[in-house]
Amino acid sequence: MSSRKTFYVTTPIYYVNDVPHIGHAYATLACDVMARFKRLDGYDVHFLTGTDEHGQKVEKAAAAAGLSPQEFTDKVSQSFRDLIGVMNFSADGFIRTTEKRHYAACQALWERLVAAGDIYLGKYAGWYSVRDEAFYADDETEVGADGKRRAGPVGNEVEWVEEPSYFFKLSAWGDRLLDFYEKNPRFIAPESRRNEVISFVRGGLQDLSVSRTSFSWGVPVPGDPKHIMYVWLDALTNYITECGYPDESNPLWRFWPADLHIVGKDIIRFHCVFWPAFLMAAGVATPKRVFASGWWTTEGQKISKSLGNAIDPVAMSAEVGLDPLRYFLLREVPFGNDGDFQRRALIGRLNSDLANAYGNLCQRVLSIVAKNCEGKVPPKGALVEADTALLDRAKGLLAVVRAEIDEQAFHRVLTSIWEVIADANRYVDAQAPWALAKTDPVRRDTVLWVLAETIRRITLLIQPFMPGSTAKILDQLAVAPAARAFAAFDTELVSGTELPKPQGVFPRFVEPAKVAS
Ligand code: MSP
Repeated sequence: MSSRKTFYVTTPIYYVNDVPHIGHAYATLACDVMARFKRLDGYDVHFLTGTDEHGQKVEKAAAAAGLSPQEFTDKVSQSFRDLIGVMNFSADGFIRTTEKRHYAACQALWERLVAAGDIYLGKYAGWYSVRDEAFYADDETEVGADGKRRAGPVGNEVEWVEEPSYFFKLSAWGDRLLDFYEKNPRFIAPESRRNEVISFVRGGLQDLSVSRTSFSWGVPVPGDPKHIMYVWLDALTNYITECGYPDESNPLWRFWPADLHIVGKDIIRFHCVFWPAFLMAAGVATPKRVFASGWWTTEGQKISKSLGNAIDPVAMSAEVGLDPLRYFLLREVPFGNDGDFQRRALIGRLNSDLANAYGNLCQRVLSIVAKNCEGKVPPKGALVEADTALLDRAKGLLAVVRAEIDEQAFHRVLTSIWEVIADANRYVDAQAPWALAKTDPVRRDTVLWVLAETIRRITLLIQPFMPGSTAKILDQLAVAPAARAFAAFDTELVSGTELPKPQGVFPRFVEPAKVAS
């Protein structure tokens, strides 16, 4: 077994009531960048995603599609699995909550909760939202002008439910949770979400209904199979199922507790209140951090099935290129904030940040090198102040980016890197290597070496965001695969190394002309 530091990152597991859209791809993309960054930084990484297949919402969607829940979930789960390939996600595991190993983990956790005295049988009478798969207290609901009662973060409709139910004694966990948040200030991010969770818990917690009897698509409660487990208890358990729970001798158990759960802002209550309470009650270690991402709208509108405005990540990446799409999603909006997906903004960034700034820098430098330096890494002569200034900025980036990655500040990572790209472009203009060709070829070679070396460093750091394009750029610099990890960040390009013929990596995107109809 490896003695390297472990890093375990998870996505929310996706309900299979619908095919994936850009909002779903977003959380997984953020996890992918975390996983790739940590792997390059020498960690032993496990990156988990998957599908949440039980519950009333999925049961209803299956019925509407005229399929059995199992047939339906097999089909839709596959579309989430396919998205991994489409988006070049480096997931290490894919979990489905309909797997046997997951039933075993849920039932083992349930038994631990019963043994700890935290579960009792009672009767639930209250509001339930099938869309949120969540219970709401009376004062959390509101009757709208249309006479419909709604609740929750996006105002989904609720219905009255009355049925025998097992309860988890959440009311007894309030103080211990508040103490836990205080001792673990990094547990919930961003800060605004942390405040939201703390004030919810301070408001007093009610016992939580954790089983249902009015339908059957779920994990049976051990010893009382008329009941199935509440879908959120079942779903949250996926994170430990993957590590082998309850078998702590499973090699993947080394990854627990998770370093980071990335979730949407609508599901923090489940992850930051229920989940640590279940784990503490069962005597299992709690995850280290939950980061809540914001929500995307498209062109100012909520993404919705009925509006048919969901951006399909498959079609979008086929049109503009996968890496530009990955870059845009993490650059455009500070991670944690809501964002609006605008096509114009995407094309704008693609052309300005990628084609003009980064792509052009690589293309200019590599084509001058190909023409003037026999297609080899040029000789490095004596460095002047302008050279060391640029090289030092590129060198300093690793520490900056590391710190920003640990805060999930992806937009800041990219801004920091692009500032150095802008410096490098200014340096090209100021040094004008094409003019030096006639007057001072030795100096020209040094300028080109400084630029190639700067491109190597920034490209190493961009790898987690745009793995395909950066691999092509590193190939053009003849950086060996083993020298692409951050352990090699402080090496240097070796003068005289043969370089392959350069090729542009980020073409400009031109909107297709509209055909008059
Ligand atoms: N199955 C639960 C999660 C269980 S985790 C133990 C669930 N599934 S979901 O499919 O409805 O949502 C999955 C994630 O996608 C959530 O984090 C949600 O916030 C996110 N998004 C859904 N629509 C989104 C946008 N429009 N924009 C960004 N993220 C969005 O909740």
